[in-house]
Amino acid sequence: MSDTSGSPTATTPPPGCPAHADAVHMGGLEYQQTPSQMYRTMRREHGAVAPVLLDGGVPAWLVLGYPEVSYVTSHDELFARDSRRWNQWPNIPPDWPLLPYVGYQPSVLFAEREEHQRRAGVITQALEGVDQFELARECQLIAETLIAGFSGSGQAELMSMYAHALPARGVLWMCGMPPGTVDTEQLVDDLRISLDASEGDDPVAAYGRVGERIMRLVQEKRERPGPDVTSRMILDPAGLTDEEIVQDLISVIAAAQQPTANWICNTLRLLLTDERFAVNVSGGRVSVGDALNEVLWLDTPTQNFIGRWAVRDTQLGGRLIREGDCLVLGLAAANTDPQIWPESHVGAENSAHLSFSNGEHRCPYPAPLLADVMARTAVETLMEHLPDIVLGVKSEDLTWRPSIWMRGLTSLPVRFTPSAH
Ligand code: HEM
Repeated sequence: MSDTSGSPTATTPPPGCPAHADAVHMGGLEYQQTPSQMYRTMRREHGAVAPVLLDGGVPAWLVLGYPEVSYVTSHDELFARDSRRWNQWPNIPPDWPLLPYVGYQPSVLFAEREEHQRRAGVITQALEGVDQFELARECQLIAETLIAGFSGSGQAELMSMYAHALPARGVLWMCGMPPGTVDTEQLVDDLRISLDASEGDDPVAAYGRVGERIMRLVQEKRERPGPDVTSRMILDPAGLTDEEIVQDLISVIAAAQQPTANWICNTLRLLLTDERFAVNVSGGRVSVGDALNEVLWLDTPTQNFIGRWAVRDTQLGGRLIREGDCLVLGLAAANTDPQIWPESHVGAENSAHLSFSNGEHRCPYPAPLLADVMARTAVETLMEHLPDIVLGVKSEDLTWRPSIWMRGLTSLPVRFTPSAH
């Protein structure tokens, strides 16, 4: 998600809403630079479930505790995904910055119960058909092409030239669009603009083009199915309509692109700044896998996820949650919950983190494995081709993006010996 740090327009909660007078405004620099510190303070002051204000002073609950996030995500009969349940809709302006993420769409993301099982089942079946070795090979080729684009210059900005560029092409390849064609490159560009617009871009127009191109892809694959995710979704006995497939394909592509890009970037940052890895990766002892896993615990890409909506009045973490209240899943806070890590030593070696969420709506199996293949191939290929790569700025000058949702860097400048690949 993009920048949501706009200042609140109302600090007094509307009548009858769940926000307390001491609700914390989610935004501001503290979140962007040192969120772990901020979560610790919030936990101390508010407990495992904190009253927060989203953009524009809109009240919600931030679930900070590991047991509480696990509970919320595994009880979808109490905390559901359809955002039309929200009791705050009368207070949401039409240009609210979070609307693209919270506004209901008839996709897998907002579906509930049997309908969710039907839609998520089709996605799981389609992703299960991806051959992980083939995906690794394809990502390696994509990585080598991207590296060849900058290796001669001895320097690069890895966020835009690599970390974001690779998973977009990887996931489109899975969906049946080969990298390197004009068509795919246009879609990659439109995805970037619609998910992460820069100055002068028109995200609404780009999103429209993404929808049109994906609809064309579905029609092409209906005529000539191939060994790809799109064709498997079309051929699934659940019999999804073209419109449903387009909605869910866009959800898959968007859900894959941003978090995988930030996973790659946060892992590269760790490898390039932390001596434990700097020394050992070049000596080939500490695996890239260790770094990838540590990032999921300590700098997880989806640090907060919006959300769930209470189906009825209930209790959570000692709070009274009202029917229709919005809960934000504090995945980063839950991963570092002192209740599971009393010695404040986070166990990078195990994988019980909540970075892929949990329960019915969790990142669907086998998406985390496919993301791991993409991220691991991206990091390993870069390290192999540019073995003397170092940061192009001091590590303390790297800045995090001003987003409370995604954790990733603004830019990752690097230097290395120029080579002709
Ligand atoms: C191949 C790459 C990926 C694909 C295809 C993918 C796909 C998806 C899809 C389709 C959903 C919606 C599930 C639903 O509502 O039922 C989802 C949710 C999610 N994904 Fe992924 N994803 C990928 C990578 C990642 C990565 C790298 C992360 C973070 C490390 C991540 C974290 C999440 C989270 C936190 C959710 C929200 C789950 C919830 O509502 O509880 N995903 N993903």
